[in-house]
Amino acid sequence: MVMKMQKNWWKEAVVYQIYPRSFMDSNGDGIGDLNGITSKLDYLKELGVDVIWLSPVYQSPNDDNGYDISNYQAIMKEFGTMEDFDRMLAGIHERGMRLVMDLVVNHTSDEHPWFVESRSSKENPYRDYYIWREGKDGGAPNNWGSCFSGSAWQYDEATDMYYLHLFSKKQPDLNWDNPKVRGEVFSMMDWWCRKGIDGFRMDVISLISKKPGLPETKLPEGALYGDPGCANGPHVHEYLQEMNREVLSRYDLMTVGECAGVTIEEAKKYASLDGKELNMVFQFEHVELGDGSLGKWTDKRFPFREFRQVMSSWQRELSGKAWNSLFLGNHDQPRSVSRFGNDGPGYREISAKMLGTFLHMMQGTPYVYQGEELGMTNCPFPGMEAFRDIESINAFNELTGAGKAAPEDMMRYLLLRSRDNARTPMQWDGSENAGFTKGEPWIMVNPNYQEINAERELADENSVFHYYKKLIALRKQEKVMVYGSYELLEPEHESLYVYTRTLQEADSQEEKCQGCSLLVICNFTERETPYEIPEQFAAAEILIGNYQRREVPENIMVQPYEALVLKMGGKE
Ligand code: GLC
Ligand code: CA
Repeated sequence: MVMKMQKNWWKEAVVYQIYPRSFMDSNGDGIGDLNGITSKLDYLKELGVDVIWLSPVYQSPNDDNGYDISNYQAIMKEFGTMEDFDRMLAGIHERGMRLVMDLVVNHTSDEHPWFVESRSSKENPYRDYYIWREGKDGGAPNNWGSCFSGSAWQYDEATDMYYLHLFSKKQPDLNWDNPKVRGEVFSMMDWWCRKGIDGFRMDVISLISKKPGLPETKLPEGALYGDPGCANGPHVHEYLQEMNREVLSRYDLMTVGECAGVTIEEAKKYASLDGKELNMVFQFEHVELGDGSLGKWTDKRFPFREFRQVMSSWQRELSGKAWNSLFLGNHDQPRSVSRFGNDGPGYREISAKMLGTFLHMMQGTPYVYQGEELGMTNCPFPGMEAFRDIESINAFNELTGAGKAAPEDMMRYLLLRSRDNARTPMQWDGSENAGFTKGEPWIMVNPNYQEINAERELADENSVFHYYKKLIALRKQEKVMVYGSYELLEPEHESLYVYTRTLQEADSQEEKCQGCSLLVICNFTERETPYEIPEQFAAAEILIGNYQRREVPENIMVQPYEALVLKMGGKE
């Protein structure tokens, strides 16, 4: 028997990620804020997105731009007030959109009152909220390294012990094995749900259950520190099921877990369609391909064939079991057009549209990162002093300091891979500072803002913006984009990524889309390539494409970075 696909609003939605610090500044202090976001809600409505995911806006000393939270129930001063938040939320809901909040609970800030208490004495009731250990042989308790360089342990004089921080030393890890910690987190989440938010994006949630005994790990050759290997720890599913019972299941939410180190097998548990844990996860396999001995710090271009293989396995293997989230960029990744497309003047727009088509036609919920809908590019930072990101700065210092990379090489890697590429201000118009602020922006504006900006693209119906708008609108109309099953064609092709989407019979009856299927052809290179359209699609219509084609011959010459989607069936 053919099973009908279960329908859910979060499967049909398109999510737009806002990095508030860089989105829109309303008061001229150079820092984006909540009132700035509120002033741009009509823009997002025009684009047609359904859900806004807001990177953290809670009170924070900003060691890691808000991912270090000192009060989960207060708004960061630079971003505004709780009244501003409520107004923004109402504005989102009035426009029929929903809001997903960033939930950062693997760690807090070291300025969070729990940690201030915890570090004050060994007997303090909050001591066990964090992970404290005695030193070993006059040094850290083990050889684990932090994701932001250096040891994952920080010595604390007050009690002569070390605390664990998988990220910066101002981001101590919470001890999730302590039921009180879980209780506090759940009631905080419940407080936000009662306020009316519509979901959570859960920061590095795969890391919350640490390896029992916190064992030393084998040092890879030449490495300074070992990998803590805390992903998918022994109790992570138990804790998420508890969270689901206590909070998530009581509301109509969308949940997505950021799951560093997740495998397909693990993702099937986190995002199982039975709804016991989360709706979907972010996996990183496709954005980590090609990483080398210095991790992400490399100038190697992504390997297209492996990329296609990885994307296809996630599509195939989660099908009918779990749900994918689809992304090529976010606030931790370089700009997608620079990385997977071609940001040179000749191909920037066309390749940005191709990447959008490629992603939005896959099975899963698509995420658009702010500025991606304009085809915003990586930024030519002139030198180290232009960077703001703690990960980039620490990595530069550590790797050049230890002689692992020459400064000029490291600089080249940063220009390609630094998170700051995605964090330069949103480009609204051609006026000073791209219309982002009347003051001095906290991070430089990409100098290409006069050419690439929202005002210009809104006025040009052939822009990347209007193409994205069309892609998003099509999703509302063509259920095959959401629920169709995926099949890869041409698995060995050196330039083309070709796949089909097909509605199962049961779904196609319900959607009045008998025999509905899509053929998606994407050229990931600037090489022209002949391609023979499969017979099944001989009479198909063009659903969308980034070249001005009116009809499709049986043998087409696929153009540089061309994307073309053909649709069969569905006519009355
Ligand atoms: C996640 C966030 C990233 C942050 C880190 C620590 O990966 O996306 O921006 O630095 O967690 O919270
Ligand atoms: Ca501001």
